[in-house]
Amino acid sequence: MRRRTFLKAGLVSVSALVAAGGGAFGWAWLSSTAGNVGELTFDRPLRIPPLLEGSSFDLKLQAGISELRPGVKTSTWGVNGPHLGPTLRVRRGETVAPQVRNALPEATSVHWHGMRLPAVMDGGPHQMIAPGSTWKPTWKIDQPAATLWYHPHLHGTTARHVYQGLAGLFLIDDEHTTKLPHEYGVDDIPLIIQDATFDGDGSLTLDNFGMSMLPGMDLMGFLGKEVLVNGTLGPAFKVTTTRVRLRLVNASVGRIYHVGFADDREFALVATDGGLVGKPVRLKRVLLASGERAEVVVDFRPGDQVVLRSFTAELGGGTALDRFTGGADVFDLMKFTAPGPLAESVAVPPRLADVPAPVVPPNAKTRTFRFSSTSINGKEMDLARIDEVVPAGAVEVWELTNPSTNHSFHVHEVSFRILDVNGKPPAAYEAGRKDTVYVPPEGHVRLLVEFGDYTDPKAPYMYHCHMLVHEDKGMMGQFVIVEPGQESHVNTRLNLKDPHGSH
Ligand code: C2O
Ligand code: CU
Ligand code: CU
Repeated sequence: MRRRTFLKAGLVSVSALVAAGGGAFGWAWLSSTAGNVGELTFDRPLRIPPLLEGSSFDLKLQAGISELRPGVKTSTWGVNGPHLGPTLRVRRGETVAPQVRNALPEATSVHWHGMRLPAVMDGGPHQMIAPGSTWKPTWKIDQPAATLWYHPHLHGTTARHVYQGLAGLFLIDDEHTTKLPHEYGVDDIPLIIQDATFDGDGSLTLDNFGMSMLPGMDLMGFLGKEVLVNGTLGPAFKVTTTRVRLRLVNASVGRIYHVGFADDREFALVATDGGLVGKPVRLKRVLLASGERAEVVVDFRPGDQVVLRSFTAELGGGTALDRFTGGADVFDLMKFTAPGPLAESVAVPPRLADVPAPVVPPNAKTRTFRFSSTSINGKEMDLARIDEVVPAGAVEVWELTNPSTNHSFHVHEVSFRILDVNGKPPAAYEAGRKDTVYVPPEGHVRLLVEFGDYTDPKAPYMYHCHMLVHEDKGMMGQFVIVEPGQESHVNTRLNLKDPHGSH
């Protein structure tokens, strides 16, 4: 680990800290970690979101009341229920047609994170769903099996809408799915991880309680004091098979998790954001920034009782900065118990899918994206501005330069491969298909991005920081995909009154 001086200028306002005085700084330092190890009783069962299979899904966005903490009522939002949404499961090759009805008191949208599809079906900020109306996108699923998810994406309100509970999984199956445990709710378990802070009256708050002078709060947008799994604080899951596949989704506003087991058992990472990895990677911990997913297969023995935990993490900012961005926090997430005789599961195969090493084509175009905490290439998000025009089918290098603090970069429509992080090839567990990548403080990341061929010069896709407060503040840009050769004919100002792209 390289040494660095404390909180370099440009990362946070060092002068503000100095002005606050040593005493206030000491207080900030002491209160800059959170955790709950040993505090949870794990006496509520893990909620498993209902499964919807097939191709036409009725989804109703609604408000409700939930018991996220035992005995405390909290106002929440959900899909077909008071909190979170059903898991949608489809097979590659099918054409899906969700009907999304907005029964909430305000406009929102539903984005299919990780999906290759026409931009007008993407559910980004241009596909607003007014209260009382129904949005009916349709597209053909044509991408490898993966754990995708869906969530709102209206510019400026994404953090609040996701935080209130609008999030669910979207699973794609293909011929590889059955090589691994795949019985939903039995040995194939979704784990939606979200941090939360509760007000005295039990309501969810994104407020940092006047502690916004604390660098960690500002830097990450929000760091909650508790961590929920599938909308429950400290749930337990009863294991009935010798192997369980966990689909981990970081659906948090900004928090980064370093997930592993309290007894340090190894597990097999079998998939990342965009699908299966070539061969399983044995790990004890997996780092998940906001928006990222991982699938892991865990072995259990009869009698096991083990806590799933988020451990301290090296986030790349050095000890001090990492502490203010949650790297020193330790949270128990949930517990697994395996009381009984366990049904024998299939072994994890040594080869999972064909994931060839990324090769940069000789003529590949390189685009550079320079971050600040609220902008990309010096520009804040403008719904009427097209930032990048990409020819259909292009394979490009996207180079991310981050002179600021922690970010989590996501690109719509594509899956990409990480070429290098700070000049080094990615760790084995990050070498597969991704759509979201952690970008450490002062980090430099190069991606190989393969675009699809749904063209539409007037309907943009998004790229953005998936730390949702950063995104809402403007750390987002727009790209369109056009017929090759048409790049210079694109009008890079959109007429937002044009109903195209917001039907
Ligand atoms: Cu998960 Cu553009 O978002
Ligand atoms: Cu997305
Ligand atoms: Cu960010």
